[in-house]
Amino acid sequence: MPHINRKPFVGGNWKMNTNATDGLALVEAVADGIGNDSVDVAVYPPFVYLRDIASKAQGSNLVVGAQDCWYEAKGAFTGEVSTEMLTDCRVGSVLTGHSERRHVIGESDELVNLKTKAGIAAGLVTVLCVGETLDQREAGQTDAVNETQIRSGLADVGEGSLGLVVIAYEPVWAIGTGKTATPEDAQNAHATIRALIALMYSQQAANAIRIIYGGSMKPGNANELMAMPDIDGGLIGGAALTPGDFLAIIQAGAAQTA
Ligand code: 13P
Repeated sequence: MPHINRKPFVGGNWKMNTNATDGLALVEAVADGIGNDSVDVAVYPPFVYLRDIASKAQGSNLVVGAQDCWYEAKGAFTGEVSTEMLTDCRVGSVLTGHSERRHVIGESDELVNLKTKAGIAAGLVTVLCVGETLDQREAGQTDAVNETQIRSGLADVGEGSLGLVVIAYEPVWAIGTGKTATPEDAQNAHATIRALIALMYSQQAANAIRIIYGGSMKPGNANELMAMPDIDGGLIGGAALTPGDFLAIIQAGAAQTA
């Protein structure tokens, strides 16, 4: 049986999109549409809308998450947002190491590790994002890049904390480009990541951890991607901004559990 009873996880990363009005309408449509809780669903709006959106989602099965966090509790960190501030706003999840933060903003593996540990310490479902660039892929470095980013991202994270961790494999060349990894290529990367978790922790930890795919996932390809035995859901960018598309992807996740 595929997926060894792992509950699918589908996240919608809104990136720097929406406004106050559109964001509330989007979260309302998603919260109303997700139905039963056979899939864990989260949305990641921009920081400034989190509090209102989390209030709107209260009472639904939808988790509201942040796209980033800082790792110190408070202090002189101009422009940053702590995990305490997030939980204070009823935020339940956080992304760390998204490729846009690594490659556009310039975050290091060490910083991603500090943020990942802060997310876990705050009890947030912490989605550690990893993935190779096109150059790295063409140089045959996909597995090596994922290994480096996972080993450093999870440095000093104990097995007992892994229940709060989701790994998102997002090949950088597939993000926002309309190019999707083939289900077979994505499956290979996911299986290699799972084997790495077995090596770093245990087979039990590897069997339990959710590894989700991101990069131009759409209603038209979500089924075949999520049908792969080691693909436990998706992290969705563009298609998460349209309720119908996002809900269809959630449905594709739910179909894996039927
Ligand atoms: P797209 O779905 O727009 O390719 O974005 C993927 C992503 O980066 C999600 O975090």
